[in-house]
Amino acid sequence: MRTIPLGQSDLRSTRLIYGCMRIPGTWNVAEIDETRRREAFAALEAAVEAGYNHFDHADIYAHGECETIFGAFLRGNAGLREEIIITTKCGIRWAGDPDAGAPHRYDFSAAWIRSSCERSLARLGIETIDLYLLHRPDVLMEPDEVAAAFDRLQAAGKVRHFGVSNFTASQTGLLQSRLDRPLVCNQIEVHPLRLSPFEDGTLDDLYQRRITPTSWSPVAGGRLFGTAGDDPRLGAVAAALDAEAERHGVSRGAILMAWLLKHPSGILPIVGSRQPERIRDAVAGEAVELSREGWYRIYLAARGTALP
Ligand SMILES: NC(=O)c1ccc[n+]([C@@H]2O[C@H](COP(=O)([O-])OP(=O)(O)OC[C@H]3O[C@@H](n4cnc5c(N)ncnc54)[C@H](OP(=O)(O)O)[C@@H]3O)[C@@H](O)[C@H]2O)c1
Repeated sequence: MRTIPLGQSDLRSTRLIYGCMRIPGTWNVAEIDETRRREAFAALEAAVEAGYNHFDHADIYAHGECETIFGAFLRGNAGLREEIIITTKCGIRWAGDPDAGAPHRYDFSAAWIRSSCERSLARLGIETIDLYLLHRPDVLMEPDEVAAAFDRLQAAGKVRHFGVSNFTASQTGLLQSRLDRPLVCNQIEVHPLRLSPFEDGTLDDLYQRRITPTSWSPVAGGRLFGTAGDDPRLGAVAAALDAEAERHGVSRGAILMAWLLKHPSGILPIVGSRQPERIRDAVAGEAVELSREGWYRIYLAARGTALP
């Protein structure tokens, strides 16, 4: 796998990132037994063997269990920590925290950012988070307060670089305007069933700012492999993807990676499968050079309407 600089940082990420959100196969902590832990380890081993060097987490994934499992995986693989980029996120708070009346919400207060970071470091069993993201935009975000929290975390050696997730262009610009350091990443949902970032200025803005877009749910959480159901576009998109897959001798999943990788903004897809075969298979997408015509055939099927 090729590595590339991540935003304006010293981090060099493989073009595909491995997403750890689904590694236990459930978010119900009571269901995470030894079998599920073994399966999670098998997925992580497959990702390491296939060459992924960047692993994506969040404090909320399986209520912290994904980070805890990853910490155990690191302890069992001496030297791995130094070879990989670890991303994790904060800013989403569950209902009932800290008391019964508290709703599910977002919290970018300095106290919550700093305490979340400490908990993630402890679960992962590491000294420093390479890339720390604000998970979803907090309507009450006070950029100067976030900047102060970032300063303290970086000065204490707990975080190397910062980024955001699910931010609009204007939210990114607002936060960046108060930071002394460049945001290096915005993790967004973009795939053939979600084209808006191509069209609403999100990707243009990231390109202009030299912020790397990473794409969560690159196969639409599996929907791009499902039956058409009530989404009339799905059949057409699947047919367009399969035609390109046949042309290049790879799978539909690999073509989806190639389709995202072709965009000039430098999108890095985050592979979410927990099946070793699919984790390995996605890498074939890196070697596919889609033609402009091939890219547009998929885009047009996804739009469902011809271009003017
Ligand atoms: N920032 C955010 O707000 C946000 C939100 C969501 C996710 N994320 C990050 O993005 C990562 C990826 O998200 P995701 O897991 O939704 O990505 P995804 O790769 O689009 O979806 C993974 C799902 O698709 C299924 N799948 C993959 N290939 C398939 C195939 N060939 N046939 C049928 N099903 C297939 C997988 O099942 P199998 O496991 O059985 O293969 C899994 O359930 C997460 O791990 C997380 O790190 C971030």
